[in-house]
Amino acid sequence: MYNEATHHNEIDLDKIDINAAPPTEEPERQYYFMAKCREWVKDFEQKNDRLPKACVTTFGCQMNARDSEKLEGILRKVGYEITEDERADFVLFNTCTVRDNANQRVYGRLGELKGSKRRNPNMKIALCGCMMQEPSVIEKIRTSYRFVDLIFGTHNLYKFAELLATCLAQTGYGEAGMIIDIWEGTDRIVEDLPVERKYPFKSGINIMFGCNNFCSYCIVPYVRGRERSREPKEILREIEKLVADGVVEVMLLGQNVNSYGKNLEEPITFAQLLQEVEQIEGLKRIRFMTSHPKDLSDELIQVMKESKKICRHLHLPLQAGSTRILEAMNRRYTKEQYLALAEKIRREIPDMAITTDIIVGFPGETPEDVEETIDVIRRVKYDNAFTFIYSKRTGTPAAAMEQVPEDVVKAGFDKVLKTVQDTAREQVARYQGRVFDVLVEEVNENDANLVTGRMSNNTLVHFPGGAELIGQIVDVSLDECHGFYYMGHMINRAT
Ligand code: 5AD
Ligand code: SF4
Repeated sequence: MYNEATHHNEIDLDKIDINAAPPTEEPERQYYFMAKCREWVKDFEQKNDRLPKACVTTFGCQMNARDSEKLEGILRKVGYEITEDERADFVLFNTCTVRDNANQRVYGRLGELKGSKRRNPNMKIALCGCMMQEPSVIEKIRTSYRFVDLIFGTHNLYKFAELLATCLAQTGYGEAGMIIDIWEGTDRIVEDLPVERKYPFKSGINIMFGCNNFCSYCIVPYVRGRERSREPKEILREIEKLVADGVVEVMLLGQNVNSYGKNLEEPITFAQLLQEVEQIEGLKRIRFMTSHPKDLSDELIQVMKESKKICRHLHLPLQAGSTRILEAMNRRYTKEQYLALAEKIRREIPDMAITTDIIVGFPGETPEDVEETIDVIRRVKYDNAFTFIYSKRTGTPAAAMEQVPEDVVKAGFDKVLKTVQDTAREQVARYQGRVFDVLVEEVNENDANLVTGRMSNNTLVHFPGGAELIGQIVDVSLDECHGFYYMGHMINRAT
């Protein structure tokens, strides 16, 4: 874990008078509560002869992973030892609700925590994230998971230190002491809170929050709220500080990065933001996630084409190949428009890997519609595609539409998956025998003599090497393609 906090405009906790009234301004108010929490931690240490341990478990997407780094940053700042072991003194689940199986996983893991809490009655259990924005979930936790101590949502994540202070001050636990703080929305973006990074050499950066698209299957606009962009100068300042701290690759995060900047007082396009990020000296690679096809501009394609730092990977969610289904999904593009866009990208930037998300079993989808999806997969030739079975989300327009029988969905899903695997294998293999730059990320999980890294186009490569290569960009010969990854050997260190 790598603490970014010292590189922000951080407030020194030693200079805070915790006997004074809490400030009303942010982030000062949160630092005040961090100082309060730190007193609690010191007290714990004296009584138990050890530091308290905290564990943050993340479900869901990169947005959630980044949020968890912020939560861990605060926990570390107040003195907790961060662990991955859920038998900790403070356990926080950062939840996802994009599909129902994400919710079921959270309930399952929560059931397991009950036993740990019985063994350690002083343990505190907290829940946050997208799933907590659903009133039915809160109801269920209040009645069936009464051992939970603290619940907050996506809009008040910045208030975590304040909520933690209240939670720690409480001696009792269970329903009577359950703190629940959920907001319906916010315009607020609080800067300069501490962050704890998972990797020293790469980092996610939020450039915007929320989503305005309202695809008819999707719960995200309801749980993450309306689109809000961060100020470009804040984003650039954050990246500059990360680079000074050793980061070489950044991933700009937003539900729909292509509409970045539209709601700022001084509007700027995503392509313009990328051009500014490109200027940051020492930064080697720029990634971003996710692009909505309807908003992907020619300006962006040109900027990507000319850039030396923007990675050759574009995640361009298709969702469905049938224009009729796309319309019912409220995606606002047709099959032909999507294909034309993909063709334009292939023409302008031939080495760009395109990946996608596909949903099978959207209400009303027929086997003929699924064939249209398969047709798009064959034509675009994705390097990878995440294929999901449609999951009915309460409150979304699609939940009220007629659902497809399970066996029909399953048959379509298997067919789509098989097509994705076949085309991806072919597509990924096109670089076999050539040399590419690879950013080394870790020692291989299964073989300590190998390291694992990523090409600019996001393909994984394993090759002989040691931990000293982690964080470096090296030239690797791609010897053998194994479906979604390569085995290779290092040629030399890239500059
Ligand atoms: N059911 C299945 N998949 C969904 N996704 C979003 N909502 C649903 C749903 N209700 C998928 C989309 C999106 C990805 C993050 O999750 O493909 O791009
Ligand atoms: Fe899950 Fe979607 Fe929320 Fe990410 S944005 S945490 S995938 S519901």
